[in-house]
Amino acid sequence: MIKNSIITLRVVKIFNLKNVISIKDFQKKDIEFILNEAENLEKVAKSEEKSEELSGKILGMMFFEPSTRTHLSFESAMKRLGGSCVGFVGTEASSVSKGETLADTSKMFESYSDALVIRHNLEGAAKFISNIVDVPIINAGDGAGQHPTQTLLDLYTIRRNFDKIKGLNVALVGDLKYGRTVHSLAYALGLFDVEMSFVSPNELKMPKETLHDLKKNNVKFYQTNNLKEVIDNVDVLYVTRIQKERFPDEEEYSKIKGAYCINKSLINGKDLIVMHPLPRIDEISTDVDNTKYNKYFEQAFYGVPVRMAILKNIIKNK
Ligand code: CP
Repeated sequence: MIKNSIITLRVVKIFNLKNVISIKDFQKKDIEFILNEAENLEKVAKSEEKSEELSGKILGMMFFEPSTRTHLSFESAMKRLGGSCVGFVGTEASSVSKGETLADTSKMFESYSDALVIRHNLEGAAKFISNIVDVPIINAGDGAGQHPTQTLLDLYTIRRNFDKIKGLNVALVGDLKYGRTVHSLAYALGLFDVEMSFVSPNELKMPKETLHDLKKNNVKFYQTNNLKEVIDNVDVLYVTRIQKERFPDEEEYSKIKGAYCINKSLINGKDLIVMHPLPRIDEISTDVDNTKYNKYFEQAFYGVPVRMAILKNIIKNK
């Protein structure tokens, strides 16, 4: 009994972030705390155990861009914890379509909910509203900026498969310029002493600012446009979609689309796992789906326990 009380006090002290805006705001101990919490919540996420921890609490969700996984897994996470959700995906049915500003829309959500999840096409949107409302803000993707909760579930997937993150060799493949998941993930992996390869067409390299920050933190990485150079040494092949919607010129997209395609014959016999934040277009062949390499559907499920861990702690800390 005394032991339990001590553990509870320690937990409250360890995780004290009010908002989840950027993975750069997380220290390694914050990440490990969320991953441990998620592990404890997996049974609730699978409906094998019940929880009412967030009973009576409401999560507001403002998705100005489309989403399947992030939106549904946040909703599932909130409901599995006994809470409920309000919000929109796509602005057509909200007063945003009448011209209401982001600031005013956010203030309305603040009145109706205990925490707020936002996905927006503008980089910095989540940070912007965190300065004008008092409820906790969770960034569910801001343009080509960050997608921190995706990163936490990515790390969780890696740890679930290898029982560790430290020392692994991870290749981030595809659109490293516009893909927000890889921007967040590169920073986070940098905290865990991994070796990283950045594999992309020359036009879609990791932003200079990210490379600069990684170098400053003595993080090891290698850049190439040739996947075959690195594939034999990787533990995790993290594949991403070319982000068509972020290209200023559709012709440029047409030249690059289909640059990489992971299929069964490419990875057969190798000792690695394949991850993808999804949705995929053509960068992973469906012939990988029924192999041991496929971890991308499992990864999407882990969005539920990881987001439960985030919601539980962020709403409790409110
Ligand atoms: N991974 C991810 O963000 O998927 P959605 O765009 O479907 O939310």
